[in-house]
Amino acid sequence: MTDFILAIDQGTTSSRAIVFDGDMKVVAVGQKEFTQHYPASGWVEHDPEEIWSSVVTTVRQALRKAKLKAADIAAIGITNQRETVVVWEKETGKPIHNAIVWQDRRTAAMCQKLKKKGLEPKFAKRTGLILDPYFSGTKLAWLLDNVKDARRRAADGELLAGTIDSFLIWRLTGGKNHVTDATNASRTLVYNIARNEWDKDLLKILDIPATMLPEVKDCADDFGTTEEKLFGAAIPILGVAGDQQAATIGQACFERGMIKSTYGTACFAVLNTGEELIRSKNRLLSTIAYRLDGKTTYALEGSIFVAGAAVQWLRDGIKVIGKASDSGDLAAKADETQDVYLVPAFVGLGAPHWDPDARGAMFGLTRNTGPAEFARAALESVAFQTRDLLDAMWKDCKGMQGNTVLRVDGGMVASDWAMQRLADILDAPVDRPQILETTALGAAWLAGSKAGVWPDARAFAKKWALDCRFEPAMDGKQRTRRIKGWKDAVRRTLSST
Ligand code: G3P
Repeated sequence: MTDFILAIDQGTTSSRAIVFDGDMKVVAVGQKEFTQHYPASGWVEHDPEEIWSSVVTTVRQALRKAKLKAADIAAIGITNQRETVVVWEKETGKPIHNAIVWQDRRTAAMCQKLKKKGLEPKFAKRTGLILDPYFSGTKLAWLLDNVKDARRRAADGELLAGTIDSFLIWRLTGGKNHVTDATNASRTLVYNIARNEWDKDLLKILDIPATMLPEVKDCADDFGTTEEKLFGAAIPILGVAGDQQAATIGQACFERGMIKSTYGTACFAVLNTGEELIRSKNRLLSTIAYRLDGKTTYALEGSIFVAGAAVQWLRDGIKVIGKASDSGDLAAKADETQDVYLVPAFVGLGAPHWDPDARGAMFGLTRNTGPAEFARAALESVAFQTRDLLDAMWKDCKGMQGNTVLRVDGGMVASDWAMQRLADILDAPVDRPQILETTALGAAWLAGSKAGVWPDARAFAKKWALDCRFEPAMDGKQRTRRIKGWKDAVRRTLSST
């Protein structure tokens, strides 16, 4: 039997298809960017048809590059941008509107209204989330409220809804399967993560008919089979997880207390809390890390909205570097006696502050401040924000802090300088793995293990291999002083001050 696995990674800016061989090595990659639509300030949409065609194209591309046929693929694993929501017609599969993307803020007033009604504790208790436009529930309610006839059609059973995984599976299976997995469901604001079911009360509050939602499955499960005409042979879809959860799996963070942080445009840190659903008292999210064989493993998650985006700002905004990979070299030249801080609240601040109205600021500028100090401040801001997340996590999980090691992935981790500074600020080792395709690998592992052609969790975890460990080397006094300066800068940036 073949042991090639195909991972579909449907991200925020591009769709990718990655073929792995039986040794879990990348054989071929197909990638296609797609259009970002910004119809109004703070609104972000994707055309589901463009997403769909980008996925089909990249799968074909990857198979071609790998010189494989669909019949050579044992199974497909899907991972996706989370929270982004699509509504489509049951009869035709046609979306009734563009997808509303996780970054979209159009439901801020709706969230505010629900908060004013005192409903946040109820949502938090059942879903582990906070009332923020980030999550799918209010976006779905917006679509039902604003697309002509949508509410009536939804009530009459004519419309289906889902996150991107769900929409893709519907299309891949030719409209046969309306399903999702527990991790994607856990980001919708209407899924009860303790009981593992759609929450009737929350659906009622948002006026969303339960009949339009997908069936929720384990992450390694039978999600259906692709239509033969798409790729030349039917391929079983056996794994699904939201991208940050897939990265947690790809980093083999299977044990309670293990933590990974992914540095893309934004940054998401996920701490495995085992079978315990820890309710954050520090504005982190409680979420499902994965559900395997009916057993739910929970996580605490901290999201910061600007990580790699700070480096893009250095390159495209103030143009102090020509390419992203120059940022570390420039930061290394900075004068260590200058305490310059960047609070990159370009789109507000995420966890643990959740301040959508804050805007970016720099502090400590002097006549001597130049490009090198800007570069250092941008890279350090990522380290300081990660430290804020980890501090909040340890406050929530007293006793788990022990031997913290942070497993990292994402584009930014290529910079040795940034990773060393991260270890210095965290005062904890930072581990960069050999395989940086952790998100796709996580999805592939779900499918490969379910197909019985890849190792089980224990053996998979053993294969996780280190590229480089960064040990903290900063003097303790300097670290304390810098963290104090950062906290002061954040305090002055928050919109309420
Ligand atoms: O929660 C949003 C996250 O899933 C998006 O990830 O990698 O597509 O930006 P990414």
